[in-house]
Amino acid sequence: MAAPHTAKEIIYMDNSSTTRPAPEVVKAVTSAMEEGWGNPSSLHKLGSKSQAIVRAARQAVARAISADESEVYFTSGGTEANNLAIFGTLRTLPDRKRIITSTVEHPSVMAAYEYLKETGYDVRFIRVDSLGRVDPEEVLREVTPDTALVSIMLVQNEIGTLQPCREIGRGLMSMGGKRPRFHIDAVQGFARLSIDVREWGVDLLSVSAHKIHGPKGVGALYVRKGVSLTPLAFGGGQEKGVRSGTENVPGIAGFGAACALWETDREETMRRLTDLRAKLVDGILGAVPDAVLHGPRREGVAPYIVHFSFPGLRGETILHALEERGVYVSTGSACSSHKDKPSPVVLALGRKEEEALGAIRFSMSRYTTEDDVRITIAALLESLQSLKAWRR
Ligand SMILES: Cc1ncc(COP(=O)(O)O)c(C=O)c1O
Repeated sequence: MAAPHTAKEIIYMDNSSTTRPAPEVVKAVTSAMEEGWGNPSSLHKLGSKSQAIVRAARQAVARAISADESEVYFTSGGTEANNLAIFGTLRTLPDRKRIITSTVEHPSVMAAYEYLKETGYDVRFIRVDSLGRVDPEEVLREVTPDTALVSIMLVQNEIGTLQPCREIGRGLMSMGGKRPRFHIDAVQGFARLSIDVREWGVDLLSVSAHKIHGPKGVGALYVRKGVSLTPLAFGGGQEKGVRSGTENVPGIAGFGAACALWETDREETMRRLTDLRAKLVDGILGAVPDAVLHGPRREGVAPYIVHFSFPGLRGETILHALEERGVYVSTGSACSSHKDKPSPVVLALGRKEEEALGAIRFSMSRYTTEDDVRITIAALLESLQSLKAWRR
């Protein structure tokens, strides 16, 4: 299935940074701007129309995680959702001073936890194994009555490792009473993986639209019914006072349309991507004997993220060689790819600094085709051949 409006001169393999908006999303955004431009808080018909658009999108987000629409709060994206979950919880539970996370979280969680450590919180950073997985038992062992929050991501954004969120959530649920709140950063798994917030014992879950062919600058936080949060922004009381500010109606409309795409064919698309990922991984490992795969080869990994190191080369050098051949990738996460530093995620796996520097992430989407994978492998081999002289 080719992207309906993609000029095929580029092979876009950087979908974990962002995805191309789907035509259905562009249509929903445009229509909301042309016809749904009223303020959802207005009491006249234009207001009601915008309110209906926001409500339909809220229901679509809720369906994707088996939540109730009343538990979904729109935000400006995954970063805000994560910050709201973390700081909103800690302001509500000021007497609890321990918080728990992993060493491979996205910067929007990691930087918040590091800041909280500086301000006196007892922060437990749970280490991962060589495939990037946290041990759920270790997370549960660190919980004390003084623990306010546990934040663990669903899919690691650089290497694709799936974290045992269900096990952690169910373990925390069994603690009853004064258990800490459980927060999942689900930005890299939302809509593509099956998520059941109730069955998993989740209190807070962050999602973002632009990773699933929706618009940038819109996301949501799931907040379990009964869980209270202190807002970060005070104002007109929108989103039941949890997130004041006039709603981004066009963005929210696009988010709803993006969720709808996956409702019809999620399982089939995931099966297709699992097959494509296997072809990409096997193709690279078969042709480049010293390539180092980070994260799991088959099981326990999101079927759309592949992360390799090519020892002796810099990731950025390979990225540009691929770009010349029309293949767009990234050297790690979009947020860290402009810094000339080894990826902290790859270092957290216990890899050497040189391996962390020579890292390239290929990430696929519902529009990636078998041809894209074939061309990517060929372009990579050509690039590595041409860069032989550059090897350090
Ligand atoms: C795991 C993860 N969390 C959070 C974010 C931030 O989301 P947003 O770009 O919507 O702020 C990202 C984006 O790269 C991500 O990959």
